[in-house]
Amino acid sequence: MLITNIGELVTNAPLDAVSVASPGPFAAIADAAIVLDGGLVAWTGPASAAPGADQVVDAGGRTVLPGFVDSHAHLVFAGERGAEFAARMAGLPYSAGGIASTVAATRAASDEQLRANLARLASEMLAQGTTTFECKSGYGLTVPDEERSLALAAEVTPEVTYLGAHVVPPEFAGDAAGYVDLVCGDMLAACAPHARWVDVFCERGAFSADEARAVLAAGEAAGLQPRIHANQLGPGPGVQVAVEAGAASADHCTFLSDSDVDALAASGGTVATLLPGVEFSTRSPYPDARRLLAAGVTVAIATDCNPGSCFTSSMPLCIALAVREMRMTTAEAVWAATAGGAHALRRTDVGHLGVGARADLIMLDAPSHAYLAYRPGVPLIAGVWRSGERAA
Ligand code: NIG
Ligand code: FE
Repeated sequence: MLITNIGELVTNAPLDAVSVASPGPFAAIADAAIVLDGGLVAWTGPASAAPGADQVVDAGGRTVLPGFVDSHAHLVFAGERGAEFAARMAGLPYSAGGIASTVAATRAASDEQLRANLARLASEMLAQGTTTFECKSGYGLTVPDEERSLALAAEVTPEVTYLGAHVVPPEFAGDAAGYVDLVCGDMLAACAPHARWVDVFCERGAFSADEARAVLAAGEAAGLQPRIHANQLGPGPGVQVAVEAGAASADHCTFLSDSDVDALAASGGTVATLLPGVEFSTRSPYPDARRLLAAGVTVAIATDCNPGSCFTSSMPLCIALAVREMRMTTAEAVWAATAGGAHALRRTDVGHLGVGARADLIMLDAPSHAYLAYRPGVPLIAGVWRSGERAA
C-alpha cells in the first residue's frame, strides 16, 4: 500500500538508508510518500519518486508519523479516584498512599471487570495514536492478584512489567522486609512467566535503594529486565540504582541532582522517561527536560496512565505539556514520544519509519507534527495503522 501526498512524513530515520535497524535522530521529509508491505515499511521518500502500488491512499497534505510508544502505564486496576483528584485540586498534596484504595478495588474485582477496563483504556490509547504500550501490575500485591494482573496485561501487549514492589500492602504494614522477600520469592516465581520487565517504586514511602536493588536483582535472575520509578516525589537514590542495574529506563526523574544527570548521561543505555501528565495532574513542578537534553541523556515521554497520579491515556496531551511546560522543541517532544519510548523499551522495530520498521503509523489532520502542541486538546488523529493494517 502507498500513502502519498503526505505534507510532512516524520521518519526518525536517515533518508538515504536502505534499511534501518533502529530509530535514529528526529528526521522528516516534506511532500513525501510511504509504502507499506507485509506489515513493514518498504519505502519512504519524496512523493514525486514514489513507486506504484496496488492500493493508494491520498493523505491530502496531512502529516504522517510513527505510532506513539507509551513506555509507562498502569492499566490493570479497578475503581477510580476522582474524589482524590478533586481534593488535590482543592489543595491537598499527592502522596503514594492513595495506591492502597486502588489495590483494595482491584483485589475485589473479577477478571472480567479488569479485562473490560483494560480493553477500554487500550482502545482509548489506540484512538489517540498509541500503537505500542507498556503495562504494569502493581495494584494486586498478593501472589494471585499480581499474577492475574500480568496475565491480563499480556493479553493486550508484549511489554508487560512486574511491579509487585509498588508499595508495601496493608497486611505487611511494619514488615517491609517480609514483603520484599515475597516479591523476590513466591510472587516473582508466579509472575515472571507472564512478564518481560521488573520495576520498583524507589521512593520515600515506597522502597529504599537496598530493597530496590534486591527486587531488580531477583527479577533479573528470573529473566526479567529492570526499569525503575525514580526520583518522582523528591530527591533520592532511584536514578543511581537504575544506572547501576543497567535499567532500560529511569522513570519520572522529577527531582535530580547533578550527579544523577551525569550518571544518566554516562550510562549509555538508561533512558530518562518523563511523565509530564503526572506533574500536570498533581500540580507539581515539571522535570527539567532541558538539563537532561543538554547533558546528552536520551529522553522519552510517556503517560503513566493510572487512576491516581495521572489518569490520561493521551500521548498528544503529554507532547503538548512537554513542549509548553518543559520547553522541549516540538521535534524533541515528538521524538521522545516515539523513538524515545522505543529506546525505553529496548525496541528497534517501532518508534521510527525507516525501511524495515513495523508499519505502525499515525495520520494527523494537520500540516506538521508541531500541531500536536500547537493545537492542544484537539482530536487531530485522522487514522492509525498497526503492522500495516488500519486500526483506528
Ligand atoms: O507512577 N509512582 C507510583 N505509581 C504511580 C502512581 C500510582 C497511583 O497513585 O495509583 C505513578 O505515579
Ligand atoms: Fe508509574
